[in-house]
Amino acid sequence: MRIFLFVSYIIVVASHLITAQGVAVFNILDDGAIGDGTTDNTQSIRHTLIRAADYNLPSIVLVPAGDFLTGSLQIPSNVSLHLASNAILRASDNASLYSCVPSITTDTGPCDYPFLLVDHAHNVYLEGEGRIDGGANSPPGHLVRDYKESSNMLIPIEWNLPNCSGYSCRPKLLVVRNSSSVNLINITITNSPLWTITIVESDHILFDNVTIMGDRRWPNNDGIDLINSRHVIIRNSNIIAGDDCIAIISHGPSSMFNITVENMNLQSTSAGIKVSAYDRNSTGNMYDMIFRNVRITDTNRGLCVAPRWGSNIISNLLFEHMNIETRFFGLDWWGSAEPIYVTGLSTNADQLWTGMLKNITFRNIIAKGEQGFIVRGNTSILENIHFENISLTIARWSNVTEHPAHDYRPSQEPQMAWAKVDGIFAMDIDKFYLQDINIDYQQPRQSYYGQCLNLSNITQMVQNNIQCQNIDYFISGQNSIEKLHMIYLFISLAFFYYFIL
Ligand SMILES: *[C@@H]1O[C@H](CO)[C@@H](O)[C@H](O)[C@H]1NC(C)=O
Ligand SMILES: *[C@@H]1O[C@H](CO)[C@@H](O)[C@H](O)[C@H]1NC(C)=O
Ligand SMILES: *[C@@H]1O[C@H](CO)[C@@H](O)[C@H](O)[C@H]1NC(C)=O
Ligand SMILES: *[C@@H]1O[C@H](CO)[C@@H](O)[C@H](O)[C@H]1NC(C)=O
Ligand SMILES: *[C@@H]1O[C@H](CO)[C@@H](O)[C@H](O)[C@H]1NC(C)=O
Ligand SMILES: *[C@@H]1O[C@H](CO)[C@@H](O)[C@H](O)[C@H]1NC(C)=O
Ligand SMILES: *[C@@H]1O[C@H](CO)[C@@H](O)[C@H](O)[C@H]1NC(C)=O
Ligand SMILES: *[C@@H]1O[C@H](CO)[C@@H](O)[C@H](O)[C@H]1NC(C)=O
Ligand SMILES: *[C@@H]1O[C@H](CO)[C@@H](O)[C@H](O)[C@H]1NC(C)=O
Ligand SMILES: *[C@@H]1O[C@H](CO)[C@@H](O)[C@H](O)[C@H]1NC(C)=O
Ligand SMILES: *[C@@H]1O[C@H](CO)[C@@H](O)[C@H](O)[C@H]1NC(C)=O
Ligand SMILES: *[C@@H]1O[C@H](CO)[C@@H](O)[C@H](O)[C@H]1NC(C)=O
Repeated sequence: MRIFLFVSYIIVVASHLITAQGVAVFNILDDGAIGDGTTDNTQSIRHTLIRAADYNLPSIVLVPAGDFLTGSLQIPSNVSLHLASNAILRASDNASLYSCVPSITTDTGPCDYPFLLVDHAHNVYLEGEGRIDGGANSPPGHLVRDYKESSNMLIPIEWNLPNCSGYSCRPKLLVVRNSSSVNLINITITNSPLWTITIVESDHILFDNVTIMGDRRWPNNDGIDLINSRHVIIRNSNIIAGDDCIAIISHGPSSMFNITVENMNLQSTSAGIKVSAYDRNSTGNMYDMIFRNVRITDTNRGLCVAPRWGSNIISNLLFEHMNIETRFFGLDWWGSAEPIYVTGLSTNADQLWTGMLKNITFRNIIAKGEQGFIVRGNTSILENIHFENISLTIARWSNVTEHPAHDYRPSQEPQMAWAKVDGIFAMDIDKFYLQDINIDYQQPRQSYYGQCLNLSNITQMVQNNIQCQNIDYFISGQNSIEKLHMIYLFISLAFFYYFIL
């Protein structure tokens, strides 16, 4: 229904154009915006957006080629913010040009200060060949206070804003709240000082051909945070982020479901994809999510399902057709190079995880990591976990002096546990399925290499065709030993042939 041809303007009416298809175009230049990279355009662009809102029908707000510096902006219903090729919409660092928007993450203070806001709106587009720049280390050094070399981490300047605390005082780049039909298409978003795109209590959200480029050294630089939202498609997109690329988080009583993530390239200094709960009030269930054709490279933790607190049921998650490569970034970043990490541990004694994780499938996955897979329940909360057709290579290639550990942060003791690197470490699970698994430990053999499978306290274990190369196949735990004799025999034979041939 919407029109992207700006070359075919026919009629000029007052200060907006009407395209051949009858869609009004409001050009920010008509309100005096100057694209020189230094003029503050906040008032002029806000004025353009108000004119578009008053128009009431679907319209385009055009940011033409140029570098437009501005404070925060709210994009109303029926507006398509179109960034022409070579257009940059640049976030100002002047705190007085940002306003408080009630934050859902109240633990960090009552206010968010988003650069772009979509609030109680319907039918909104952000698209075009141009770029939105949040200013974090752009130009280099901007908003940077310090650099911590040992963990290759930039230390941001904290903003002097009221009613927020700590890191939450930096602006989030785009916040969408209580809205529907919000579409990000063909757009590039760079250098967010905090979370890049936050979607809260919204539905019918589409990301298609979106490039999010954060700074890998920037803390809390998430790509997409989906909170309490439904009917979401994220596809054909690339995300490079300092924190999680895609975090799907429940908060409070709303359920989250019907979420598809496909055809993605992800790189993160934290998790590629994370499914989690925001705090102890997370009671809304999360279900029916599909993740497929995802390539995760040079990332700390690949796929992470780790609620931590609340009491919701997380079920029917499918992860398939993936290529995952995870390396260790050192202890300052959460995660320890696990391609797949599923845990049901509590944050602390006050904030217990009492929900359930069930029916989670990982299949057709090729993974290479400095750590193996970690799948750990606690009190009867992990059920029906499937791994099918998985190839996992364990190797060491990062230059961090420490080596991977069991990293359970933020959780009850132990937050970090020294343990050898097993292929699959699985503990406290009900109904665990392993089918067609190949695990290979690359030489040179590291002193901390553990065992192929390390399984304990698993009820109803089913295994078929597990192959282990260059490592001892060893199984511990009480419940599953008998069932495994046959497989052990098979693997021993495989080993025998491996070394003989
Ligand atoms: C959005 O546009 C539709 C027509 O497509 C119109 O019916 C509706 O009132 C508009 N909503 C707003 C908030 O402008
Ligand atoms: C920040 O913006 C306010 C409001 O427009 C303005 O009065 C002030 O001069 C700006 N500060 C800087 C350093 O540009
Ligand atoms: C925001 O901070 C001001 C003081 O800086 C305080 O008076 C006000 O109550 C705060 N608002 C909220 C919502 O906390
Ligand atoms: C907006 O979302 C909040 C939760 O984030 C919810 O409490 C509130 O009811 C919603 N408001 C509307 C008008 O939908
Ligand atoms: C993705 O968007 C860019 C502009 O940001 C455009 O040049 C490219 O053709 C788009 N690709 C597809 C497959 O639509
Ligand atoms: C996205 O880009 C592709 C390729 O240039 C183009 O065909 C498509 O119409 C664009 N979509 C939007 C919504 O701009
Ligand atoms: C799932 O979400 C998509 C995208 O918003 C929507 O087109 C589809 O109808 C939804 N499916 C169901 C079963 O609601
Ligand atoms: C949890 O919900 C209760 C009751 O709705 C509220 O008082 C409390 O502030 C909430 N806690 C958090 C961390 O949101
Ligand atoms: C388990 O999840 C899959 C999606 O991965 C779904 O197709 C299937 O119906 C679910 N099974 C049950 C028993 O809910
Ligand atoms: C497992 O659950 C028990 C009981 O809630 C708790 O005491 C223990 O600390 C939990 N372990 C971890 C690692 O979270
Ligand atoms: C074994 O795991 C189950 C959950 O599957 C849990 O309820 C039980 O406490 C665990 N037993 C031991 C001895 O840790
Ligand atoms: C490790 O160091 C070598 C030699 O300095 C370098 O070529 C390589 O890129 C580094 N690897 C990583 C993952 O940082």
